[in-house]
Amino acid sequence: MCGIVGYTGTKQAYPIILKGLKRLEYRGYDSSGVALLNNGELNVYKKKGKVAELEESLVGINLDAQIGIGHTRWATHGEPSDRNAHPHLSSNGKISMIHNGIIENYALIKQELLNKGYQFKSDTDTEVLLNFIEDIKNNNDCKLEEAIRIALKRVSGAYCILLIEEDNPDTIIAARKGSPLVIGIGKGEHFLASDASPIIEYTKEVVYVNDYELAIVKPDELILKNLGNEKVTPYITKLDMELAAIEKGGYDHFMIKEIFEQPSTIYDCLRGRLDAKEGYIKMSGIDLHTEQLLNANRIMIVACGTSWHAGLIAEYIIEELCRIPVEVEYASEFRYRNPIVNKGDVIIAISQSGETADTLVALEKAKENGAFIFGVVNAVGSSIARISNAGAYTHAGPEIGVASTKAFTGQLAVLMMMALNIAKHKGTITNDRYNQLLVELEQIPEKVDSILKNAEEIKKIAEKYKDATDFLFLGRGYNFPIALEGALKLKEISYIHAEGYPAAEMKHGPIALVDENLPVVFIATNDPYHEKIVSNMQEIKARKGKIISIITEGDKVSPTISNDYFEIPMADEIVAPILTVIPLQLLSYYVGTLKGIDVDKPRNLAKSVTVE
Ligand code: AGP
Ligand code: GLU
Repeated sequence: MCGIVGYTGTKQAYPIILKGLKRLEYRGYDSSGVALLNNGELNVYKKKGKVAELEESLVGINLDAQIGIGHTRWATHGEPSDRNAHPHLSSNGKISMIHNGIIENYALIKQELLNKGYQFKSDTDTEVLLNFIEDIKNNNDCKLEEAIRIALKRVSGAYCILLIEEDNPDTIIAARKGSPLVIGIGKGEHFLASDASPIIEYTKEVVYVNDYELAIVKPDELILKNLGNEKVTPYITKLDMELAAIEKGGYDHFMIKEIFEQPSTIYDCLRGRLDAKEGYIKMSGIDLHTEQLLNANRIMIVACGTSWHAGLIAEYIIEELCRIPVEVEYASEFRYRNPIVNKGDVIIAISQSGETADTLVALEKAKENGAFIFGVVNAVGSSIARISNAGAYTHAGPEIGVASTKAFTGQLAVLMMMALNIAKHKGTITNDRYNQLLVELEQIPEKVDSILKNAEEIKKIAEKYKDATDFLFLGRGYNFPIALEGALKLKEISYIHAEGYPAAEMKHGPIALVDENLPVVFIATNDPYHEKIVSNMQEIKARKGKIISIITEGDKVSPTISNDYFEIPMADEIVAPILTVIPLQLLSYYVGTLKGIDVDKPRNLAKSVTVE
């Protein structure tokens, strides 16, 4: 995963790189480091821990340089430590490199280099690739660029690498396969980064580097080549993101800012696409490809984590409204289990970052088999967005907190509009139901806003239960995946063990866990199975479990059984998951912060999982 930044130009490189690393810290924060070139002298500074610790350790040091590279790490090979931190230095100390990804055949190459007498200062796969490049450069007496090209032909795995060398003091060489790279074009300067957030402040003109491309970047020149050494014309695009969107704007954490942004992000997602008064949904990604979608024998949804939960809800909705069979797959399983994918199958890929390695590779495989890929992606211009045949952006804006919140509700809004649109074209929904659901969806931003106004109630619940060691989340139907999502949020942000289950399934095992110390969160809104879930609540109460329920306003029964409850506005069961998830996001946020956890950067996690 990790974040990568590079700068070459006329300004001071270190402050630009440091700021960029802070913006990319969501991608990993095990260690960070910079390599700076000043008058042909290459210096590397690195430190275990967050970027702020590196910054502190460098106070008072002369960091004068107009070219440099920086890295914030999510460790894959070798523990988080100073010596495993990037940038690495090649054996002769003349080349420095940072890397995002995994070199899968590093062990073999390492052995070859050890046989030649190379010694290694770290346990990383990265240092192996770097010394391999140095070795090729020395043996072939060639330029660094040529050595990189030769090395990469032997490498398997994923990488985005940036290199600088003493003998070439104004040039950064970069290459990518499977890990993202954006190059910002300034006046007499270039910026390189894993995503656009470190660049946006300086320029809006960017080039997204493609897999198997090599970039030779000087202050006033950008050359792109393929691995066959042929020049490729850089395709310049304009960023339509504002700096304010990636800053905290007065909130304590990105996570709470992003939770509170949801009325406007959902509104932005619906805007221009849905008009309940006129009775239509327009989604160009669907309207241009109705053939494929209407004739699909089945739809497969591929995603990971929270995005996979959005997929589960979409399965219920698409099957109900469109009568098309849907399967939902973890991307990591799908890609390795030899699934049956036929020409004409439709794959919906759901991803916030658009860079999740498992999802990306699963799509590549499905595309080879002739499947039609529809991307539901948040990050504009990301790899998954680009590999898709068609798609719809979630328009939630940059999501920086590691826990996915506003991207999830954006995904649900897009998937609901998709289902309604397909159902309408297919004739599997009555006009009345269609129009009713358009109104329901249009009212969602306002209802989310009213839930957020009562956030303090959830904070009180969080205070009461923050010391629990386990939680159970139960829901039925459309709210079953919300139970999974509530449990995932709590685990990642508060480190409390939590499990999500279909409420009725509880009797088949988890009920054994119930005692007076176990908080059980019921998502028990007003739907056709409400009475059934009330019975499940009674079953927990009879065993002295503590019941926290998320209910629809006006429910008179659930409060009498619950120890604590939180009301959400009345909504149709199909759109209700966008509402029921909000109190659960708040619950995990408050429990996490009350426990003193850095909720934007919880341990061991990274925002964008770009390794398998
Ligand atoms: C969500 O809170 C998680 N941190 C994680 O499960 C995430 O949803 C998953 O890694 C998928 O990421 P993507 O949507 O960017 O593909
Ligand atoms: N595999 C490299 C390492 O462990 C890079 C990981 C990353 O992408 O941060 O150091």
